[in-house]
Amino acid sequence: MSERKILVTSALPYANGPIHLGHLVEYIQTDIWSRFQKQRGNHCLYICADDAHGTPIMLRADKEGITPEQLIANVEKEHRADFDGFGVAFDNFHSTHSEENKHFSSLIYTRLREDGHISKRTITQAYDPVKNMFLPDRFIKGECPKCGAKDQYGDNCEACGATYSPIELKNAVSVVSGEKPIEKDSEHYFFDLADFTEMLESWTKAEGHLQTEVRNKMAEWLDNGLHQWDISRDKPYFGFEIPDAPGKYFYVWLDAPIGYMASFKNLCDKQGLDFDEYWGKDSDVELYHFIGKDIIYFHALFWPAMLHGAGFRTPSAVFSHGFLTVNGEKMSKSRGTFIKARTYLEHLNPEYLRYYFAAKLTNGIDDLDLNFDDFSQRVNSDLVGKVVNIASRSSGFIKKRFEGKLSPTCAEPELFQQFIDANTVIAELYENREFGKAMREIMALADKANQYIDEKKPWLVAKEEGKDTELHNICSMGINLFRLLVAYLKPVIPVLAENSEDFLNIEAQVWPSAAQPLLDHEIKKFKPLMTRVEQDKIEAIVEASKDNLITEQQPEIKKCEPIAEEIEFDDFAKIDLRIAKIIKAEHVKGADKLLQLTVDIGDETRNVFAGIKSAYAPEELEGKMTVVVANLKPRKMRFGLSEGMVLAAGPGGKELWVLNPDEGAQPGMRVK
Ligand code: 2FM
Ligand code: ZN
Repeated sequence: MSERKILVTSALPYANGPIHLGHLVEYIQTDIWSRFQKQRGNHCLYICADDAHGTPIMLRADKEGITPEQLIANVEKEHRADFDGFGVAFDNFHSTHSEENKHFSSLIYTRLREDGHISKRTITQAYDPVKNMFLPDRFIKGECPKCGAKDQYGDNCEACGATYSPIELKNAVSVVSGEKPIEKDSEHYFFDLADFTEMLESWTKAEGHLQTEVRNKMAEWLDNGLHQWDISRDKPYFGFEIPDAPGKYFYVWLDAPIGYMASFKNLCDKQGLDFDEYWGKDSDVELYHFIGKDIIYFHALFWPAMLHGAGFRTPSAVFSHGFLTVNGEKMSKSRGTFIKARTYLEHLNPEYLRYYFAAKLTNGIDDLDLNFDDFSQRVNSDLVGKVVNIASRSSGFIKKRFEGKLSPTCAEPELFQQFIDANTVIAELYENREFGKAMREIMALADKANQYIDEKKPWLVAKEEGKDTELHNICSMGINLFRLLVAYLKPVIPVLAENSEDFLNIEAQVWPSAAQPLLDHEIKKFKPLMTRVEQDKIEAIVEASKDNLITEQQPEIKKCEPIAEEIEFDDFAKIDLRIAKIIKAEHVKGADKLLQLTVDIGDETRNVFAGIKSAYAPEELEGKMTVVVANLKPRKMRFGLSEGMVLAAGPGGKELWVLNPDEGAQPGMRVK
């Protein structure tokens, strides 16, 4: 089989925060896959970069009193150290705030524009009049228009799940200045995604591009029709200015995926690779993006459309994965399960986590749970108890009785061959990103090796006279099996693999499809290759990850609007509530929300405008009994005078219910 050329990426981490264990699911997954490809002899390059643009980065730098450039440089250092600590071995790590990225972003944009895929129109958005900037939804907080929960973001309510536009928020404030946002118009640039509907239909449906569940989701989105994508942001913004559009910047999500190309170009310049061979329209290099399931839209729709529209190749596949939960729940700062890569590294061996994630990863998009008990148990029993144990059981006698040299004969050629034959199925599982299944295959082999030693009982043979050769053969066999297990585990636990290669006194192991047993070969003294997970270290990680700041804690989830401030009875008594009969209900010309009601409140009739049109047709109301506030100061409205208020409950829209007294209550009776 000839060598494959592969380019693989992980999503670019934002340059405004630390790497945490949630991120690492993806980086470890991609790194294992890339290491596997390399070990197989394929030419595989693993590319990444920091995602350095956007409002949050600009504002965080501002808060810290540094420039965005300084902030992203600091964060890049931390990111690199964290990735390095976890053995995530990129072939290149760059930044989206780079010359290469500026070049490709402008190039792709101008090509799309020349082909008529960019349009302009004016939109209205929330604007901070103090900071003089447009506010992304996440930078506006206020009360939910549906349930009234306080401190909700501009796009959705965490308490009741409602989604809305920031303009609808009650008592909205800008998170940046604390000021009430105003509405302001601005011209925006849009990418006409719908121009690519046909191309995307065939790209998303083509076998191998997407996982089945993702492909189905895409079909739904495509069926609903594709919308224009707003790719511009107004200044001040940390990003690239759009060509021929002063004061307008590319939205961070436009130049983020282009960062994959830019990072690769940066590598080309260092290593003399041919950029066009990888990204040209007719490239036959394999290109794979590993991403989280939350950013599928960007990678499976926008990105292929942009590439295609600008005359570049499209991805060979986009591989999505699920999120990380810890002990069955969303990572939480208050529970200490929002764990930074750095915190973990200060306490535990990163290869424990690499193995644990591998053991639980599938090629699907289900979430992956890190359960601390399961974590210790699996690492201790599989890696320490099964794999490393084989080497420690076998090496002692080799050192003591045979001067560190392995036997010149292979005691069990068939068993050795079984271990070699397993390479096909293990390779297929790695290739298909079924790492959990691959780990199970490998552990089944480890069980076999241990069984072999258990049956042969070298510790008894060692005590018998004249059985030196037998003892030598058994222990050498153990070492040879250990060596193959380590070769299979190498993409997952590269440090243990390298230390084992040193102990075995061998070259770096390639994929063992044609390995021969080590015969008459001198090994070095055994050093413990991995120790057991210590429980107190896990506790220390959780403790160190606990955030005691009340403000960081999850808001309490409430079903209903909070109860209003306490009042005196006299305050209540001031409100004169009367039973009323609706005698007439009519539409009001020119009013979208109001109905005009004529109500009988005993000794008089009143004219009342009620905002219940979305929930009631006039004929449903006529004849109904209800309650009105009878002493509310009459209000002059555009349509006439409103002389009271009808009581109703509900969040709005169709969900509004007019109050209705029990049978027997008569118009004019006071409600107390
Ligand atoms: O969601 C994120 O964290 C983004 N920074 C991922 C970008 S991936 C790619 F498109 F750059
Ligand atoms: Zn709400």
